[in-house]
Amino acid sequence: MTTLDFDPTPPSADLTVDETGGVPAATGLGSIDTDGGRVQASEKAMINGRADVNQLLPMKYGWAWEKYLAGCNNHWMPTEVSMQADIALWKSPNGLTEDERLMLKRNLGFFATAESLVANNIVLAVYRQLTNPECRQYLLRQAFEEAVHTHTFQYICTSLGLDEGELFNMYREVDAISAKDSWALKYTQHLEDGSFSTGTFEDDQAFLRDLIAFYVVFEGMWFYTGFAQILSLGRRNKMVGIAEQYQYILRDESIHLNFGIDVINQIKVENPHLWTAEFQEEVRQMLTEACELEVVYGKETMPRGILGLNSDLTTQYMHFITNRRCVQLGLAPVFPETENPFPWMSESMDLKKEKNFFETRVIEYQSGGGLSWE
Ligand SMILES: [Fe+2]
Ligand SMILES: [Fe+2]
Repeated sequence: MTTLDFDPTPPSADLTVDETGGVPAATGLGSIDTDGGRVQASEKAMINGRADVNQLLPMKYGWAWEKYLAGCNNHWMPTEVSMQADIALWKSPNGLTEDERLMLKRNLGFFATAESLVANNIVLAVYRQLTNPECRQYLLRQAFEEAVHTHTFQYICTSLGLDEGELFNMYREVDAISAKDSWALKYTQHLEDGSFSTGTFEDDQAFLRDLIAFYVVFEGMWFYTGFAQILSLGRRNKMVGIAEQYQYILRDESIHLNFGIDVINQIKVENPHLWTAEFQEEVRQMLTEACELEVVYGKETMPRGILGLNSDLTTQYMHFITNRRCVQLGLAPVFPETENPFPWMSESMDLKKEKNFFETRVIEYQSGGGLSWE
């Protein structure tokens, strides 16, 4: 890249500055500039980029591309998992306790629509604002994975013969779920407006808030109580089909979370002026609020607790997770140091070790390496 045999002028340099003083985001839908010079990797940017977003190469953000490849290596479909044992247990009058049934239904009810909310945010808000093709390539893969996850809840609902209306309306009818979803949606609503664009200090921070609300909180905190609940059942040999599907979802979500963290941290590197002390404190407050909402959700899903799991433990777990997310964002933890009450989570999430449980398909699915689990 040292020989300049082309015009170094950024190809989109004729973009006009908008009325607010910001630079319109490069959507990739503009006219083709046949006179522009070739894109250099150094011209690519996370937000407010001027380089052509249709050109994956030359590559700048290899970490996003690697996550795209890891996602492809993890491909799975819910219908490949047998639900026979789950159906028999669910229909057996003594198969599950009433508390376990309540937990399971509310857990499924949260995820059934949460996956769609996350997908909407990717497609209708985030994709337009991230102005490089490496990240957009990953977003396309992630959007498909969210569709697979929504498919999973359709498959579970149909297999068990659950009340569709009850399951898919919990985000409107169960207070703890409504509270979480409403909290996150408020950070994305103005991004849905077609006229929204990054380019000013305020709008760039607004976009960061949306990324934090969805990648760090929604996918990185609020999914984890649910994962612990279902994997806890699976450890006791209950609802093993759903538990297997949740392990695949968790593997996907772990990459979604890490992608989001990388995106946020890369935006910080390229735009350090956005990461003010005041904004950092605001983010810590966001994570604290999100943790409080999750604690309430833990209580509403397990009012009396179930074997090996109760809302005190999920509260402690959420404090542990919240602190981890703070550190990943370069922030001071918000809670006193606490132990992970579910050390079995990392082992039961490591699909590569679960050869008996998953028989041979794990090897086929997991051809990418280097995944790490919470
Ligand atoms: Fe998902
Ligand atoms: Fe996700």
